[in-house]
Amino acid sequence: MEHMLDRDIERVLFSQEELRCRVGEIAREIERDYQGKEPLLVSVLRGSFVFMADLVRSINLPCTVDFMAVSSYGAGTASSGQVKIVKDLSEHIEGKDVIVVEDILDSGNTLNYLLKILQARHPASIRLCTLLDKPSRRVKPVELHYSGFSIPDYFVVGYGLDFAERYRNLPYIGVLKPCVYEE
Ligand code: PRP
Repeated sequence: MEHMLDRDIERVLFSQEELRCRVGEIAREIERDYQGKEPLLVSVLRGSFVFMADLVRSINLPCTVDFMAVSSYGAGTASSGQVKIVKDLSEHIEGKDVIVVEDILDSGNTLNYLLKILQARHPASIRLCTLLDKPSRRVKPVELHYSGFSIPDYFVVGYGLDFAERYRNLPYIGVLKPCVYEE
């Protein structure tokens, strides 16, 4: 189906069907790894909300959810390494099997910092699940357990990912036309 925002997209990187399939595969991995457990999935807002919603509905295990929001200090598209918790979790995570759910892992600054903070709260275990990974951009090491797709350094939007807060509602992941962000 056509979307009004399609005109700003150079090409579709992952269609709705490809996303649905890959999310299902990740859910099966999580089910295998957490048999007999009840993982707590932590969505890091805002980008991960679409992936999170599809992922939890695909996981055939008892699980709980929580949300947190962080923002990186400094302007521009590259994160600076300084991270501020804008909204913290609602529940304690001590003794819980936590899965942090992200839309994209880029420089690693956000997740390197966030995982340290969460680790200090003594969860039973903590793993990271990201839909997209840009390994070529990494400046901080981050241990990644579940990864949907590894991609080159494209400017991607849709399925939760934004440019200037727009395009999050596109049902697929696309590469943004350079003329949009060069304006
Ligand atoms: C994105 C993503 C990660 C972070 C990854 O969030 O959701 O949190 O950037 O980048 P890094 O590996 O370079 O730290 P963003 O700051 O775009 O906020 P949003 O989720 O609200 O869109």
